[in-house]
Formats: sequence, C-alpha cells, structure tokens
Amino acid sequence: MNSETVDFLIIGSGVAGLRAAIELAAHGSVLVVTKDKPSESTTEYAQGGIAAVMSDEDRVGIHYEDTLKAGDGVCRKKAVKTLVEEGPDRIAELISWGAAFDREGMKLALSIEGAHSKRRVLHAHGDSTGKELERVLLNKVRSIDSIRKYPHAFTMDLIMNDAECHGAYVLKKGEVVALYARATILATGGAGQLFSRTTNPLVATGDGMAIAFRAGAELEDMEFIQFHPTSLYAPGAPHFLLSEAMRGEGALLLNIHEKRFMPEYHPKAELAPRDVVSRAIISEMVKTGSDHVCLDLRHLGKDFVKKRFPMIYRTCLRYDIDISSDLIPTSPAAHYIMGGIKTSIHGESTIKGLYAAGEVACTGVHGANRLASNSLLEGLVFGARTGKAAVRTTVRPEKGLSYQRDAASLEECDEIKRELRKMMWERAGIIRCAESLHAGKATLFSWREIIKGKYFTRSELELKNMLTVADIIIESALTRKGSVGAHFRSDCKERGRDWETHITWNRSSFELKQTTAEAVSGGEC
Ligand code: SIN
Repeated sequence: MNSETVDFLIIGSGVAGLRAAIELAAHGSVLVVTKDKPSESTTEYAQGGIAAVMSDEDRVGIHYEDTLKAGDGVCRKKAVKTLVEEGPDRIAELISWGAAFDREGMKLALSIEGAHSKRRVLHAHGDSTGKELERVLLNKVRSIDSIRKYPHAFTMDLIMNDAECHGAYVLKKGEVVALYARATILATGGAGQLFSRTTNPLVATGDGMAIAFRAGAELEDMEFIQFHPTSLYAPGAPHFLLSEAMRGEGALLLNIHEKRFMPEYHPKAELAPRDVVSRAIISEMVKTGSDHVCLDLRHLGKDFVKKRFPMIYRTCLRYDIDISSDLIPTSPAAHYIMGGIKTSIHGESTIKGLYAAGEVACTGVHGANRLASNSLLEGLVFGARTGKAAVRTTVRPEKGLSYQRDAASLEECDEIKRELRKMMWERAGIIRCAESLHAGKATLFSWREIIKGKYFTRSELELKNMLTVADIIIESALTRKGSVGAHFRSDCKERGRDWETHITWNRSSFELKQTTAEAVSGGEC
C-alpha cells in the first residue's frame, strides 16, 4: 500500500477545514484531503450570511440569548459563549484577508434572519456569502507553502492503533493510500444527502460522522436535523435554497390560496425559528392538500430584489420563475445536522489524535435547532480553535499498518441510495413517530441483508456511510421520546422526561450503544 506522512491531516475544505489548516500551517506540514475538488463543500453554497456582532446597536449578550432560545434549551452554554465572543475577531481577520462583505456606505450591511433580535447577518455579493468565504480562505491557503491540497481522494476509514488515531486510509485513483499524521481533523460537513429533499450538495453524505463512529468515537445529538423552510419546489428544479434572508427583507409566506399564514403560528411570523416555520408550512400543505406553499417578494420591487438576491434571481429564472414578479413555489428541505462527532470546545473528539470542526462536529453550540447564519461562524471560530488544539497532540503515528478492503461490488447501490433518501424523508423527516421510525429501522435492516459488505467503489463507500448515519439518526429519534427543537414526534408532542440531556452513541462491536450517563432515560412523554 502506498503511504505518506504529514504532521496534520485535514479532511474537508469548507470554512472549518481551511481555517484549521491556516492555524496549523506554522507548526508543520498540513495536507487537506477532499473527496471532490477543494471548492466543492457546503460552505460554497451558503447564501444568507454569517452572523456576528459587528455594530454598536448590538451586543454579544443578545446574540448569545438568541442562540440559546433558538436551540430550545439544549445548547451547551460554554460553546455558545465561545462562538459569540470570538466571532467578531474571526470576521475582522477574514476582512483583513480580503473578504468583501456588502456595505452600505462605509458600514457593513447587516441583515436580519429568523429568531435574531438584531440586524447582525453579514453577506457578500448579495446572496453568495459562502462562495466569498471559500474564495478568501482558499487564496490564503494557496499563499502558504506548508499546506498542500489532496483532491479527489475519498476517506475510507481512520487509521487506528491502540485506540489512537494515526491518520486515514483514502481511496485515490482506485488505490488505497495510507496517510499518517500526528493529528487528524475531520471537517467533512453534514449529511443532507440522506434525505430526498435537501439543500446540501452531493458531497454531504455524512462520511466524517460514519468513519469516526466506526473508529469508536462518540456521536451526539443526532436526532436534531434542521429542515430549512424554503427550498425551490418546481418541476425539474433541484431543491435549491431560497435564503432566509429573503424573509428577513420582508418576503411573506402564502399558502396556495395566496393567504398569509405565519402570524397564526408564531408572534415572529415569517421570522420565527426555522423548526417552527417548517412545521407550519407542512401543516398548511396538509390543510390545503398541496405539496408546496409560496414565497412572495412581489412587494419588494424588482430593482431591490435583483440587487439583493442576484444569484437566486438568476437561478430561478432558469426555471421560468421571476422572483420579483412571480410567487415562488417552495417547500422545506433537509439543511443542517445539529448533531455530530462529540467534541470539546477545542475540537477534541473522544479519540486521542482525532479532532472535528464545523457541521460534522457537535460542540452543542446549536442545541436542538441552529440559529440562522451561525454555521459559517461556527466553522471559523471552532476551525481556528481546533487547529490551535491539534498543535498540542502527543500522538506518534505507527506506520506500516494493514487495511482490509471489501472485495466485491454492489449492483443495487444507486437504487438503494435513492430508496434510502426517500425512506429518511418519509420516516425520519420533519414529523416523526415511533411507528415511522421503527418502519425505517426495519428497512435499513433489510438492505443490510442485501448488501452484505459489498462496499468497493467510492459510491458504495458513501452508501455505507449513509446507512451508518441513518441508523444513528433513527435510533436517536426513537430514544428521544419527546419533541424538542427540530426533533418533532407526533406521538410525543410534549418535551418528555429528561429533555435537557444529550443522547450519545458509540460503537460496541457492531451494535449501537447508548452511553447511559448522558442518555434520555426511557419512559413515555
Ligand atoms: C440561508 O441563507 O437561509 C441559509 C443560512 C443558514 O443556513 O444559516
């Protein structure tokens, strides 16, 4: 087997991975591995913006309170405090590296989004904030000699030795390569592709969570999936994100009879927390027997709409929708996972030598429902912190380990993937119950019988990861017998007993195990 040794291995090149790489660069060689090209990450597609206190009219204490409120009582307060306090410095640094956030005169232009009580969302090129962050961070990385990129390499598993992480096995041009490192940072993003309706790019298949789990790391809060209220719902169109910033600028939600409905569901109407808006939309769809509702920007004026949302305007026009003069058909879609690899606020996982940052990680900062535009900030703040912490690793990688690769291929891979995504949307989506979750669990079991370990190609290895993460989401959703934040159980609508605790899973032989100390104890709601 070919191998390579570096000081620091980073898997993923979104905001968290790149920010960690920049932090580590002065301390040794850094290799950034990506399964696609380096710019293909969820960061690249982020529209609305990045939230931080950057004006005298706002206070970090208010950002802190808004984050806790959206998180519905389950946030880890220390992580939230870290995020809101360190956020402004990380943004100022990004501006010094060339980030061109939109301005009004000399001042930063600040928007408002759901559940924020102040205008604090910075944006770039109107609605292409993630692209701007990715551009600036990739440029910075290019200027640093000690950072190397390693694209089109799929991470198969972590290299484990004596319960320590010593790097990762990757699949590059059909061959397995061992990449040894003193510290390995997973920054692989989320798992939106587990659902048939998602705003996430194709790369978001939960890889980091699955490989960390297989290696023995703990995952936490996996029942909390955020469904974005508004994605495009038009024949032949992808579930393209219709940024929350549109509602922030005054767009309204109408049902198919063109009646505004959000004021009936929440005092903040269209700017209620995302989980509330998504469920209200589903409820209106059921009431009206429709598969969508509509977003209405017609009253905002063509010039303003085209200038403020140029990318969304252009994209929707491709599907014959002029967002300044037509109602936009919309429905919710899986957008973000609050759970992930359990980490400290320094990005340390429960495995020595293994770190995680960004969407793949769970510091507890988002609780049960992430506040809009807190995720790019999370990537910046915790990416930098994780880089700082990884410098202190004491792991000495043992080389020459062997890896057992599956030898057979699976004909039904694409079909099972498609069915899996449909099953997760229907059984473990916005509204779940014990019956739907048990049905989903049974289906997962039946697929395992068909597959029998035939994971050879990249696509099959992705399926393996998707099945692992689906399993954990369903088990977590079954375990939490109550409704909190984005986790809504139609058979247990109240919060249930011990609702403030976190559900953590780790691997014990081939079974999912619940760590009792942090588990929601049984009992009905
Ligand atoms: C959006 O633009 O609505 C997405 C921003 C986010 O997910 O925080």
